[in-house]
Amino acid sequence: MSKVLVLGANGLLGQSIIKRFNNEYEVNASSMENESFIDLPAVPYFQADLTIRYDVADLIQKVQPDLIINTSAISNVDLCETEREMTWKVNVKALENILDACGRLKPVVVQISTDYVFDGNNAPYSEMDEVNPIGYYGRSKMSAENIIRNCSLEYIIARTQVLYGIGKRIRPNFVTWVINALKKNENIRVVNDQKGTPTYVNDFSEGLYKLIMQREFGLYHISGNESVSRYDFALKIAEIFGLNSELIEEITTDDLKQKAPRPKNSSFTLNKFINRTRWKTHGVADGLNLLKLEMEQNG
Ligand SMILES: NC(=O)c1ccc[n+]([C@@H]2O[C@H](COP(=O)([O-])OP(=O)(O)OC[C@H]3O[C@@H](n4cnc5c(N)ncnc54)[C@H](OP(=O)(O)O)[C@@H]3O)[C@@H](O)[C@H]2O)c1
Repeated sequence: MSKVLVLGANGLLGQSIIKRFNNEYEVNASSMENESFIDLPAVPYFQADLTIRYDVADLIQKVQPDLIINTSAISNVDLCETEREMTWKVNVKALENILDACGRLKPVVVQISTDYVFDGNNAPYSEMDEVNPIGYYGRSKMSAENIIRNCSLEYIIARTQVLYGIGKRIRPNFVTWVINALKKNENIRVVNDQKGTPTYVNDFSEGLYKLIMQREFGLYHISGNESVSRYDFALKIAEIFGLNSELIEEITTDDLKQKAPRPKNSSFTLNKFINRTRWKTHGVADGLNLLKLEMEQNG
């Protein structure tokens, strides 16, 4: 059985990928924290700070993976604007450390990237479209893409966007934020002029699994298959989870004064992914219904 090393394993995506790959692969997990948040006690866990070159070399020598999936990142886009040095270290330098440590092992490397490499003026975006990030997060992720494109290993760059799902001790994502606020009867303000193709995290993991099993390397867009504004997405969340949509106030990006600029419409086209895998991710309502079911099953 092949060995996979999942980096950023304690995050939303890391946890989901580990659940999908477990049993089919010999899974090893690594993240920053001293303990594993993964509910699979048999999965070996290694604490490592990927910005420390020797930590990474040590980790990769210990695990000897055939496949590395790097989900680690600073993904808070506003924080990236103000903490640029730290962002560069985690989102770019850490990938260089990983590639340097691979040496003669020659694993396949998967790097997770983002819709924020686009400026948002020409959606929907395919893998052929030119990148033009408008914020520091997007610039750091674009640089990581360029580094991996120029390495000698087989690689997948998998771009995704607006990931939602559940996991242990994860940061709130858009969907869990809306659900939690509405459950507490809190008013929320949601923008109507940012549009995308939100992604149920387990759909992403399934899609990535299929690409890897078929050895389809290169650049791929993997997201949900329906484009929606944040405001309409919030309304759909309220409807599916039986919550009060009147608490949702419709606003524009200008009202919010966020630190980082956001692309207005960064929706993906998924033709390349669908053609290669013969499989489709879910649309908005179906993805949310799957999440609802998962939440009910997890109590
Ligand atoms: N979330 C989205 O909507 C979205 C959209 C597009 C692309 N992406 C990309 O998808 C990937 C996964 O995102 P996510 O939502 O799962 O993020 P997340 O929940 O924040 O997970 C990232 C993980 O990386 C870890 N990490 C950060 N710095 C590290 C370091 N120096 N060494 C080792 N581990 C480190 C974090 O640990 P700490 O918790 O201790 O910091 C966290 O466990 C990222 O590459 C992100 O850029 C995400």
